[in-house]
Amino acid sequence: MVRTWWKEGVVYQIYPRSFRDSDGDGVGDLRGIIEKLDYIASLGANIVWLNPIYASPNYDNGYDISDYERIMDEFGTMADFDELLRGFHSRGIRLVMDLVVNHSSSAHPWFLESRRSVDSPKRGYYIWRKGVDGGPPNNWRACFTGPAWEYDEASGEYYLHLFAPQQPDLNWENPALRSEIYSMMRRWFARGVDGFRMDVINVISKDPSYRDLAEGETMFSTTAPYVYGPRLHEFIREMRREAIGDRDVMTVGETPGSTVEKAIELVGEGRGELDMLFQFELMDVDCEGDKWHRRPLDLVAMKRIIERWQTGLHGVAWNSNFLMNHDQPRSVSRFGNDGAYRSASAKALLALNLSLGGTPYVYQGEELGMTNSKWEGVGDFRDLDSINYYREAVAAGADEGEVMDSLRYMSRDNSRTPMQWGPGPNAGFTSGEPWIGVNPNYRDINAAAEEGDPQSVLHFARRMIRFRKEHLALVYGRFELVAPEDPALFAFTMDDGAERLLFAANMSEEPRGIPRAEEAGGRSSRSLEPLLSSLGDGRPAGTHLAPWEARIWRLV
Ligand code: GLC
Repeated sequence: MVRTWWKEGVVYQIYPRSFRDSDGDGVGDLRGIIEKLDYIASLGANIVWLNPIYASPNYDNGYDISDYERIMDEFGTMADFDELLRGFHSRGIRLVMDLVVNHSSSAHPWFLESRRSVDSPKRGYYIWRKGVDGGPPNNWRACFTGPAWEYDEASGEYYLHLFAPQQPDLNWENPALRSEIYSMMRRWFARGVDGFRMDVINVISKDPSYRDLAEGETMFSTTAPYVYGPRLHEFIREMRREAIGDRDVMTVGETPGSTVEKAIELVGEGRGELDMLFQFELMDVDCEGDKWHRRPLDLVAMKRIIERWQTGLHGVAWNSNFLMNHDQPRSVSRFGNDGAYRSASAKALLALNLSLGGTPYVYQGEELGMTNSKWEGVGDFRDLDSINYYREAVAAGADEGEVMDSLRYMSRDNSRTPMQWGPGPNAGFTSGEPWIGVNPNYRDINAAAEEGDPQSVLHFARRMIRFRKEHLALVYGRFELVAPEDPALFAFTMDDGAERLLFAANMSEEPRGIPRAEEAGGRSSRSLEPLLSSLGDGRPAGTHLAPWEARIWRLV
């Protein structure tokens, strides 16, 4: 594999709305991020991905963009942006922006014009269809509940929105629209940005049959008629050619419904499409049918999914690894133990994510072991996905208590509560009234306290990022599961030819024997040279892994 900065980098994801508010309006902003540049640099991450910061009515927190080339008023100005970008670059950090071009906001001038009349020159920028038998054109459902089609009284036609009605889908069949998107991207590159994270990019090409979803097909089934649609690869190659060219930038696609096979078609090295993608098989591991219905975490199943992606892409395409983001609950509450073993399990999960082949993503607060929040009632939530689900489920007769429990566990708002900077009012996030409640555990869990504690999750996160940079076997190595059927031990080797490392994490509350060198090394390895432990002073000691301890050895 060709070596590049984005393969060897660690990405830190910032959700600007909840990171740091510099002006007291309760909403995070760009100047807030500027205040924290040294903190970000201290983590050792060398790439930052910013969730959308563009002008938006904020039905979906910036994923409904009304102007792709203006900064959201609450977040600041273009001058703030330029200063932020300089601040990153002067610290050796590259900046990746969110690119949301499957849909725009319904307040975007393109949509206002498109909606004006069936003869509008921009009618074709969006997807308009006549109804069928007095109803919508087909049975597609929107991601945030309800049908995916909205009726427009004035023209008697429906427009498509795979997400909220305020997020109409752009019509990629239209060459003028595509060329507007490419020139917008070129202007951001000219400003100096280093890449894009592309929102739901694998649903931009809709099958022209507009056939119904079949029995058993769900919104993001691999076979859904817009998931990896017929012209996807053509569009992505055109985008590469027209917007990216030979610029040294990184691209990562958000691609629900991906399988290893589909992924290789989109991000295979040398295909000239995208550099890497986010798959969701891992995020579905504890879901039954949909994300609101939970099943107990099966560690063996989790290991098998990671194994499939690690080995399936090895040598042919590049992995991206994440255990949470702004759409997922807090990883320590989901895959770890956010009670007695919060700190230990948060470290074990960081160690795992930072030991896999591919590019790791760390989401703000993950480096502190921040947890899911406390939610008293539905009125505490801000996320339209959570609120819509509550309304729909309760109206359909579901038990209110059970619905609330689903929200407590899975709501995206769990990861969107303000960053916990210190023990002061509002965790040091804002001097005003925060747009969403601060997690009440901020007096115990916050960056200031963790700075002062050498055994904190924060100090471990820094050490683990450094360790990864010093051991490229973790980046480029071949992954092999050790003790695959063990229900509590997550162990694997990473081998890049120059070095063979053994990773083992005890994902349980009971002590656990460590794997033997023969198990991990075949006949050639005779001993384990300890390199790192996630607990205590960092030096591995003893023949057992403590609850939620992770260790790394060199096999010699
Ligand atoms: C992606 C984003 C999510 C957003 C959706 C619609 O999944 O990550 O936050 O709601 O796309 O843009």
